[in-house]
Amino acid sequence: MLSQLLFVCCVAAAISASAENTSTPSPRFRISPLDGSVIALPTTDQLAFQDREMGMLIHFEIATYLSIDGCNGVPGLVPNPTLFDPTLLNTDQWLSSIVASGAQYATLVAKHNCGFTTWPSAVTFETRDNTTSRYNYTIADSPVVGADVPGMFSRSAEKAGIGHGFYYSTVVNNFLNVQNSLVNATWAPGEIRIANDTYDEIVIAQLTELWTNYGTLTELWFDGGYSASQQAKITALLQELQPQACIFNSCDVNGTACLSANSIRWIGTETGLPNEEIWSTGVTNDGGSPTSPFFAPAECDTTLQSGIRWFWGVNQPLRPISEMIEVYHQTVGRNCLLELDLAPDRSGLIPAAHAARYKELGDFIRSCYGPGSAVGSAVNSTTSTSVTLAFDFPTSIDRIVLMEDQTAGQVIRGYEVHAKIVDASGMNGTLNVPMTLVSSGKSVGHKRIDLFSAPITVTEIAVTATKFVDAPVWRSVSVHLCDSLPSGS
Ligand SMILES: *[C@@H]1O[C@H](CO)[C@@H](O)[C@H](O)[C@H]1NC(C)=O
Ligand SMILES: *[C@@H]1O[C@H](CO)[C@@H](O)[C@H](O)[C@H]1NC(C)=O
Ligand SMILES: *[C@@H]1O[C@H](CO)[C@@H](O)[C@H](O)[C@H]1NC(C)=O
Ligand SMILES: *[C@@H]1O[C@H](CO)[C@@H](O)[C@H](O)[C@H]1NC(C)=O
Ligand SMILES: *[C@@H]1O[C@H](CO)[C@@H](O)[C@H](O)[C@H]1NC(C)=O
Ligand SMILES: *[C@@H]1O[C@H](CO)[C@@H](O)[C@H](O)[C@H]1NC(C)=O
Ligand SMILES: *[C@@H]1O[C@H](CO)[C@@H](O)[C@H](O)[C@H]1NC(C)=O
Ligand SMILES: *[C@@H]1O[C@H](CO)[C@@H](O)[C@H](O)[C@H]1NC(C)=O
Repeated sequence: MLSQLLFVCCVAAAISASAENTSTPSPRFRISPLDGSVIALPTTDQLAFQDREMGMLIHFEIATYLSIDGCNGVPGLVPNPTLFDPTLLNTDQWLSSIVASGAQYATLVAKHNCGFTTWPSAVTFETRDNTTSRYNYTIADSPVVGADVPGMFSRSAEKAGIGHGFYYSTVVNNFLNVQNSLVNATWAPGEIRIANDTYDEIVIAQLTELWTNYGTLTELWFDGGYSASQQAKITALLQELQPQACIFNSCDVNGTACLSANSIRWIGTETGLPNEEIWSTGVTNDGGSPTSPFFAPAECDTTLQSGIRWFWGVNQPLRPISEMIEVYHQTVGRNCLLELDLAPDRSGLIPAAHAARYKELGDFIRSCYGPGSAVGSAVNSTTSTSVTLAFDFPTSIDRIVLMEDQTAGQVIRGYEVHAKIVDASGMNGTLNVPMTLVSSGKSVGHKRIDLFSAPITVTEIAVTATKFVDAPVWRSVSVHLCDSLPSGS
């Protein structure tokens, strides 16, 4: 339930079909020379973003100091800004966990649903009482006045060579009495009274601050989407200030409006275990569709803390490493960007137990899939239906990693992997064995990892595209032996 409240991911309900401005990015696609079907085309920014494979979503603001997981669904809750007091705040320390986990980008919550901003927003606005008010619910109104979390974080990320970006929720702001992008006209005593138009202006003014002052941004998050009245202005602002950024929740679920051509879609679950074929194309909050004209890769956001807890929770248990490895395989290994929560505690640091689990995950990824880990030769952008790897001697493997070159779209729609298994029972010690099917699937896309049911010793592997809408281009094929998964802890 909390999760649904936290990430109300569909914009369709909020946005009207009558996108006011025709500048809404339209889908880019080509026509298949083989069957005339639509092949959605990526932008170079989207392909570069998919290459990052794994990122982090950092939850740290005034809700870190609450017992509940954010202000979601509690409209009257505006926690006192004096609560925000991270006495040991150090974003370089955050980056060591981000790097250790193997993540290549990190997106920081700069404003969540309470309304508190972790940068000293200087935005002012007119109230309905005809006064000019400062947006006085910021870090400058807290005990750590003078600090600027997005600023510190951006510098740390740039130093570490990690892409950075921001989450700013436009649809909820308890401080301004906003739910579903609308100002509720019933105000509590002392509450700042604004008009709906003023709210939209505040959103644009704060996005302008965030997108102007903190460098080149990799990803921008629109949790719950955006309203129809904000869409054209956000689209134009993005184009002006951060055209390269990839945009989470960019499109409504039928593509009637998108904020950017660099669209990213939600996978539809916060478990990190979508367990499905995931296409780089589509605008719906699921595995997508190979026939969609929209290239909009899926992002799988999930937590390290159990119970889908995003903000740091007192004594909140962590998910076991075995489960996190399963998450990795069901996301990165299924063509989904894995965006893992990072939850600094109330002192402003990553707790040691969290740091250890992130490193454990990163160590697994590096040892199993990192440079030099492949036991079978890899190929490099081969245009061919089939790719064969022949081994000089019988070689033990337990998984295969496939990558498709998607420069001209995701064209492989089905594949099979066959192997000459020399240690299968009943083979009687001969090298003269037939090919056996060891794995198959539909979507390859950026990356597909298939784990075999058990390790096998092989002399040859053949990967074949069985269904495709243009000549398949295999970016790489490699086989690995990673032993059994670490046991749960
Ligand atoms: C978009 O999808 C929503 C949800 O399925 C639907 O209610 C709406 O009518 C659709 N709009 C258009 C223009 O197809
Ligand atoms: C639509 O976008 C164009 C180009 O950015 C702009 O000139 C125009 O004023 C916008 N129209 C509306 C109604 O927002
Ligand atoms: C604010 O100013 C407008 C225009 O001058 C006026 O119509 C309105 O009554 C004023 N509101 C208040 C609360 O004074
Ligand atoms: C913000 O300023 C308004 C007056 O503009 C005041 O009523 C309110 O108490 C202030 N809020 C905080 C959190 O300081
Ligand atoms: C507006 O706020 C009042 C008072 O808190 C509440 O009773 C009402 O349900 C809210 N309206 C909407 C549309 O959320
Ligand atoms: C904002 O718009 C909604 C929907 O039209 C309306 O119910 C609400 O009263 C408006 N808020 C204000 C402060 O006028
Ligand atoms: C693939 O080949 C190109 C051109 O020869 C080279 O630049 C690139 O580094 C190679 N990539 C890999 C992963 O081997
Ligand atoms: C292995 O030997 C058994 C028993 O002699 C025979 O039935 C089977 O066909 C042999 N398998 C192969 C692959 O030759």
